[in-house]
Amino acid sequence: MTTLPESAPAFIDVEEARQRLADHGYLSDDRLATTVFLQTRLDKPVLLEGPAGVGKTQLAKSLAEATGRRLLRLQCYEGQDETKALYEWDYGKQLLYTQILREKLGSIVEDAVDLNESIERIAKQDSVFFSERFLAARPLLEAIDSDEPVVLLIDEVDRADEALEAVLLELLSEFQISIPEIGTISAKHLPYVVLTSNNTRDLSAALKRRCLHLFLDYPDAERELEIIRSKDTGLSEALAGRLVEIVRDLRTLDLRKAPSISETIDWARTLAVLGVEELTSDVLSSTLNVVVKYERDLKKALDAIPRMVDPNATVPDGLHGHGHGHGHGHGHGHDTLEPRDDSGDVDGKAVRLAKDSPGRHDDGYYGGEGGTKPTPKSVPAGQGSRSFSARKRPV
Ligand SMILES: Nc1ncnc2c1ncn2[C@@H]1O[C@H](COP(=O)(O)OP(=O)(O)O)[C@@H](O)[C@H]1O
Ligand SMILES: [Mg+2]
Repeated sequence: MTTLPESAPAFIDVEEARQRLADHGYLSDDRLATTVFLQTRLDKPVLLEGPAGVGKTQLAKSLAEATGRRLLRLQCYEGQDETKALYEWDYGKQLLYTQILREKLGSIVEDAVDLNESIERIAKQDSVFFSERFLAARPLLEAIDSDEPVVLLIDEVDRADEALEAVLLELLSEFQISIPEIGTISAKHLPYVVLTSNNTRDLSAALKRRCLHLFLDYPDAERELEIIRSKDTGLSEALAGRLVEIVRDLRTLDLRKAPSISETIDWARTLAVLGVEELTSDVLSSTLNVVVKYERDLKKALDAIPRMVDPNATVPDGLHGHGHGHGHGHGHGHDTLEPRDDSGDVDGKAVRLAKDSPGRHDDGYYGGEGGTKPTPKSVPAGQGSRSFSARKRPV
């Protein structure tokens, strides 16, 4: 085993963490940079909760790049069992070995007097076959057992069943995994663990307690523009700024799936490729399918766009329901359109719950970046508030 020097602190301070992430294309605000810095100092996992497409998964990827660590990823899904997350016994290899060693095994039981004794003798060889040699490590064990320090991404943990969540607890607090046949395997190097959740169900208090918790919401206009700028979309600064405003307006509509940062980026690229020079209602409407992907949402957005482009545009009565006043103070007033709690903070959970509806987890909304996808299924409309007790256990 290589004995690597215990790595020097990943980051000197919060500002360096922010800078190094930025160097690798990830723009973080103070809160996020502080959390990442603390994670590397306190050896605590980070749990990022928030809507899809706000940069949760990307943070883990960028953290790996910024710290020069390998990224290991466990994509969670419903019905996933621990053999896919922790380890399983390599049955094929065990079988192969017993085939090859048939004669040797035969000699062990050769002079046994009866079946019972034969079984006893074979059983004594158990430890040979249930040893590390026959262990097939899955991402969690791989992260613990890795010879070099890694970043472990446990992605969309809210999709996993609570049984798997329980399995995670030992790992997250002790950085070790117990295997009954072998014993406890402790981390050679503490991994930086990033868990993400799209917040479709509450995670257990035990899990949260073990993590530095951060809620990631859509960024403010300035940072979103900065992110768009950093992606070299080809869209002019002025148009990108305007586009960000439009997307922020779209997020205030009660859409089933609000456009995320990745969709703003896609939209900017689309408009740049089309050589658009002005964000007119027509241009936006004809490219809206880049950001809005449900039929119902498309209708709503198409209705709202003329007034987003020009607050004084006349819209036929009945199209906007309670939308009166939407255009007042346009240009500076976008923030006030988002649901807020008493403190004036954006109430992200309320926003999401309000939008939660069947089919929320259809493929594609999560970027399709690897991992096993569950079959889309229909779920009750109250999915956002479902609790552990209401969840079905896999059989
Ligand atoms: N802070 C950020 N800095 C740079 N790019 C970002 C940031 N947040 C989001 N993005 C972009 O948005 C995309 C979607 O982010 P992702 O991490 O997949 O979202 P989530 O995991 O929250 O659903 C990323 O691939 C990245 O291009
Ligand atoms: Mg993600």
